Amino acid sequence: MSDWVRVADSTAVADSVESESAGVTFFVDDHEVAVFRVDGKPRAIEGKCPHKGASLAGGKLQGDCIACPWHSWVFDTTTGESPTHPGQSVGVLCVKEDEGGLWIDRDSIPVPVAKTAGEDGVHRYLIRYASPGWIGLFGTVHELDCPRGSRVVVQTTRGEELGEVLAGPGETVAQTGDSKPTGEVLRLASAEEQSEHGEQSVAMLDELIESAQSKLDAASVNAQVVDAELLLDRKKAILYYLGEASPVLTDLREPLSQAARLEAVEWATLIEPEGGGGCGAEGCGGGGGGCHSD
Ligand code: FES
Repeated sequence: MSDWVRVADSTAVADSVESESAGVTFFVDDHEVAVFRVDGKPRAIEGKCPHKGASLAGGKLQGDCIACPWHSWVFDTTTGESPTHPGQSVGVLCVKEDEGGLWIDRDSIPVPVAKTAGEDGVHRYLIRYASPGWIGLFGTVHELDCPRGSRVVVQTTRGEELGEVLAGPGETVAQTGDSKPTGEVLRLASAEEQSEHGEQSVAMLDELIESAQSKLDAASVNAQVVDAELLLDRKKAILYYLGEASPVLTDLREPLSQAARLEAVEWATLIEPEGGGGCGAEGCGGGGGGCHSD
């Protein structure tokens, strides 16, 4: 079933010119709609940017994509997906020209989704992250389309890390009131980020573990290095250990990072971190979280 509503004369929307603002905003009932004309054909998408609500009709076209006039998030006018912010999207509406007018199908206007954010406006996700498989609550002020099992990039105090979504804001397990998130969910992980992470240099990390252990043994520190991982930027490695939190660990960070040609090496006990690394809400800087660095 369709429910076509005439919004304007055909002449109201001119052919969009590359890099110029050429969309027109219409309202169908209370819904803002942005209409463009590309190669003579009309296209319609939801008019409000999901970031902070700018009118997308005032954005600039780049091929099939519209760049938001406020912060330049980009949306494909044919699919609604955002190539710059994976997981973010706008609805694509059915539009046609008939009898000299532009018509929008009311039935193609997306129904607003139920509010899933907490009182503080933060959407919370339960995410498994880090090599030991820690599970933490991560937040974002911009809800992401990342169902259970999605691979995402999270920000912890250690840096950007890969994580796996175990539950989203609409799922009971993640409804933990306004408890402080461990860190921020930044985006869906791209295929490249996932494959690069999977191709971490096993030999390099093995060498790092071996070298760290022999230095600890030489310094008579009662600690066992049990694992290592590279963060997403591939510039920082985390060494996981069990045992004595000796000051020698701190002294070894510099020589170990130099030997492995990394910017930094950090130590982390195999104890799940506490505290937050910021949740994405403005003004929330978090604190603590990440690892138990020595
Ligand atoms: S309001 Fe559109 S990118 Fe910020």
